[in-house]
Amino acid sequence: GKVAVLMGGSSSEREVSLMSGGGVLQALLARGVDAHAFDPAHHDLTELKRAGYDRCFIALHGRHGEDGTVQGALELLGIPYTGPGVMASSIAMDKIMTKRIWRFEGLPTPDWRLVASAAETEQALEALGAPMIVKPSREGSTIGLTKVTTAAQCAEAYALASRYDPEVLCEQFIEGDETTCPVLGQGAAAKALPVIRIVAPEGNYDYQNKYFTDVTQYHCPSGLPQAEEEAIQRLVEQSFRTLNCRGWARADIMIRASDRQPFLLEINTSPGMTGHSLVPMSARAAGISYEDLCLRILASASL
Ligand code: DAL
Ligand code: MG
Repeated sequence: GKVAVLMGGSSSEREVSLMSGGGVLQALLARGVDAHAFDPAHHDLTELKRAGYDRCFIALHGRHGEDGTVQGALELLGIPYTGPGVMASSIAMDKIMTKRIWRFEGLPTPDWRLVASAAETEQALEALGAPMIVKPSREGSTIGLTKVTTAAQCAEAYALASRYDPEVLCEQFIEGDETTCPVLGQGAAAKALPVIRIVAPEGNYDYQNKYFTDVTQYHCPSGLPQAEEEAIQRLVEQSFRTLNCRGWARADIMIRASDRQPFLLEINTSPGMTGHSLVPMSARAAGISYEDLCLRILASASL
């Protein structure tokens, strides 16, 4: 059947999505899939039905793409789509809701405060201790994020984050190894892929270093002791199931240097598929090519 690769969209991650979608489209075409690009910023989603598409590969990131809204529209149109459903997408887009659920379920995630002003951001720094991460609750690709160490930095950090989302999250910074780990599958069959350990210059794995520089080092195999690697994989599978995810996702984890305790930061339900992206890198380490990965994700499309 005819497949629409949804890419672009109107979120602040539009540029990243165009790179992800471009890669996915090329891979599907190479494998003989009748695939076409579809940009919801330029076309109404109802056109998918009229044009006779019978599946969607969602390569959108951020708001109105990764947050359950597009998923809900596709449910109404009756067109199967890749990745988690409406509720899981919507919760995972919201880092605060995600952390509440993980905390409730006993999964480790750094302490946090939801703040509504610069003054509350300063209070959060006192409560959580320095350094602290200030970020929009519903964003991606490190957009709007600041690592603060002093009270003097709080006002600017709050102002930046609140430009992207009125809900601003302050989170205790975990000093240690930065890792990420994808999951493929569904329910009890959801299975983690190899862990990637990320080493960015001065720990600064920001928007530029994610997509546009070559200064970030990615280790996959991670080089972590096997027991640690496996503990992270089990934790990531749990984090995925707890939110009722399906299809695929990628969770980001910090390992605290002092005691090697892993902490879940967030789970991305429409992870990047760019040339620099992490899910393809981890899949490759597991013997799954970029093209096979795209086909596998597509095969999991459902309603
Ligand atoms: N938000 C970006 C696309 C990612 O998580 O890969
Ligand atoms: Mg993210």
